[in-house]
Amino acid sequence: MQTADRIFRVLCACAALIAAVCMCADPAQAKPRTDNDSITKSCGPDNATKTILIAYDTIHGSTAEVAARIGDGLCDMGFNAEVKWVGDVTEVEGYDGFIVASAIYKFGWLPDAKAFLEKYKDQLAAKKTALFIVGASMSEDTPETRAAVQKSFVDPVLEKYPEIHPVAIGLFGGAIDFTKEKYSLFEKIVLRILGFILRLEDKNKADWRNWETIDAWAAEVGAEMM
Ligand SMILES: Cc1cc2nc3c(=O)[nH]c(=O)nc-3n(C[C@H](O)[C@H](O)[C@H](O)COP(=O)(O)O)c2cc1C
Repeated sequence: MQTADRIFRVLCACAALIAAVCMCADPAQAKPRTDNDSITKSCGPDNATKTILIAYDTIHGSTAEVAARIGDGLCDMGFNAEVKWVGDVTEVEGYDGFIVASAIYKFGWLPDAKAFLEKYKDQLAAKKTALFIVGASMSEDTPETRAAVQKSFVDPVLEKYPEIHPVAIGLFGGAIDFTKEKYSLFEKIVLRILGFILRLEDKNKADWRNWETIDAWAAEVGAEMM
């Protein structure tokens, strides 16, 4: 598919998502949908001298899996890493660095991730902090989509919190999976539209996460946090 055609389709998909979501917004539903959709884990060698908190927000779990993978990468580099859904973080004292992440829904960060940034902005600003987002708009990783995603989903956060200077910003493709029977009817309608516009090969699921890219980003963040 031509790049211009692809970008046009992604933009159409995003417009369709916005229109549909605006008709049916329910922030109370913006939580991990099942227990399996959030991951809590900690790892790292006994002699680790730095502990990194990876606080993510998710509904359907794909962002949690990315966060866990990044945590594994940091632990392999000698850090202690704690991976938690943002809503489970009760305090941020004692961490040497932070990674804050959100899945993108309705053209923005999820509510609990935004609340986390607001609540802990001073602590995040005082330590090395990295950010990443996970979304369908990174279904194709090109310089053009990176620029558009950065502008739409990262720059507004940086403008709102100028005191936070991220050491790294990750932009990752997300995933959808209708076979897990955990999507609401509304989400299924949105995702069918998305699947049609993006011409998904398998109309029941897609996974745009590139684990090599994610691992490389974890290594980049680890080098920054040394
Ligand atoms: C209702 C709905 C709205 C979405 N809106 C967007 C969006 O505006 N931009 C985007 O890039 N991806 C959007 N997506 C795709 C999700 O970001 C993607 O599926 C992501 O992997 C979900 O993360 P999670 O599994 O951690 O919840 C949307 C998905 C759903 C179901």
